Amino acid sequence: MILVTGGAGFIGANFVLDWLAQSDEPVVNLDKLTYAGNRENLASLQGDARHVFVQGDIGDAELIARLLAEHRPRAVINFAAESHVDRSIHGPGEFIQTNVVGTFRLLDAVRGYWAALPASEKEAFRFLHVSTDEVYGSLAATDPAFAENNRYEPNSPYSASKAASDHLVRAWHHTYGLPVLTTNCSNNYGPLHFPEKLIPLMIVNALAGKALPVYGDGMQIRDWLYVKDHCSAIRRVLQAGRVGETYNVGGWNEKPNIEIVQTVCALLDELRPRADGQPYASQISYVTDRPGHDRRYAIDARKLEAELGWKPAETFETGIRKTVQWYLANPDWVAHVQSGAYRDWVSQQYADTAA
Ligand code: NAD
Ligand code: DAU
Repeated sequence: MILVTGGAGFIGANFVLDWLAQSDEPVVNLDKLTYAGNRENLASLQGDARHVFVQGDIGDAELIARLLAEHRPRAVINFAAESHVDRSIHGPGEFIQTNVVGTFRLLDAVRGYWAALPASEKEAFRFLHVSTDEVYGSLAATDPAFAENNRYEPNSPYSASKAASDHLVRAWHHTYGLPVLTTNCSNNYGPLHFPEKLIPLMIVNALAGKALPVYGDGMQIRDWLYVKDHCSAIRRVLQAGRVGETYNVGGWNEKPNIEIVQTVCALLDELRPRADGQPYASQISYVTDRPGHDRRYAIDARKLEAELGWKPAETFETGIRKTVQWYLANPDWVAHVQSGAYRDWVSQQYADTAA
């Protein structure tokens, strides 16, 4: 079996759902259930014996040691993190606590477990750390895309905390021999994305008749990847990645933010036109920029493509359409997330599964 951390969040939940759709290998899913963790994301797995959910913190070394001893996973995949840049600007403390201290505690507990494994299991074991392209900093318009050997130049409290966690993972390999893999992915989008991030926020605000807040001039560039393509890349790296290596993950989809917002508006105009016949783009509102806002990210994914034969299944056009359709088809999920009602739903549905 595998141990996944942060598997009730956006990418982690997509990963767990895809994993169990393709394999019968069980998953222990450890998640603290912060505001971003939502057990409703995993509702389709209720009663499925292949999925064991545990509410807990990656910083709780005792709990981690107990879970490892009890379930004896062949791999740990670390998604757990505080993930929102704007929140990191307002309150960096939680980011240091989970992304840095938590990753350290998790790594160290895993090292203790791994060191005591029989030789063949020790050899096969993997710790896969899910990280971000933001650790590389910001690109100028004509710079080449980030490769794995780019310098780390994180600019926000979030990216600095992720960079620190990447360094810890690297050090636990070089110093203690822990068999690690690190993936650095570009911006994800797709189903189950918490509506504080650009794409789901724009869909949800548009439908609610609210303003669509575009930071600064809207010309910052992000490189977008459909979440299920990120999940397939992680599965592939886990399966065949070289121990100690890092792999950049991206779909060669650089777009300025304003173009993303306009695309979302155009899809909504087509799929759910406004009652007054006006375009959703009329709700766009330019607002004060994010402090220290990185101008451009772009991922060079050639190593992953050439070494491991990975390719994304979605283009941006197919992925964004699926995403908008998913939000239109799941108004209850959106309402629960926005009202916090999923917390009540969780305590009713899962009263028996706290750690
Ligand atoms: P998310 O915020 O949606 O989910 C994070 C999950 O981690 C939540 O379920 C939360 O409850 C859980 N969590 C937080 N602190 C925890 C702790 N101390 N112990 C256990 N669980 C805890 O984030 P996401 O967008 O799904 O990102 C997942 C990972 O992927 C993160 O490490 C993030 O840095 C990385 N990443 C995200 C993106 C992206 O575009 N979203 C891109 C590249 C990399
Ligand atoms: O690059 C990978 C990273 O992508 C991940 O590591 C992070 O966890 C993830 O949150 C994401 O970070 P960003 O800051 O790029 O994502 P966000 O959705 O917050 O913002 C995307 C862009 O849109 C960014 O340039 C800021 C801008 N933006 C965002 C919001 C929420 C707006 O213009 N308006 C908004 O309201």
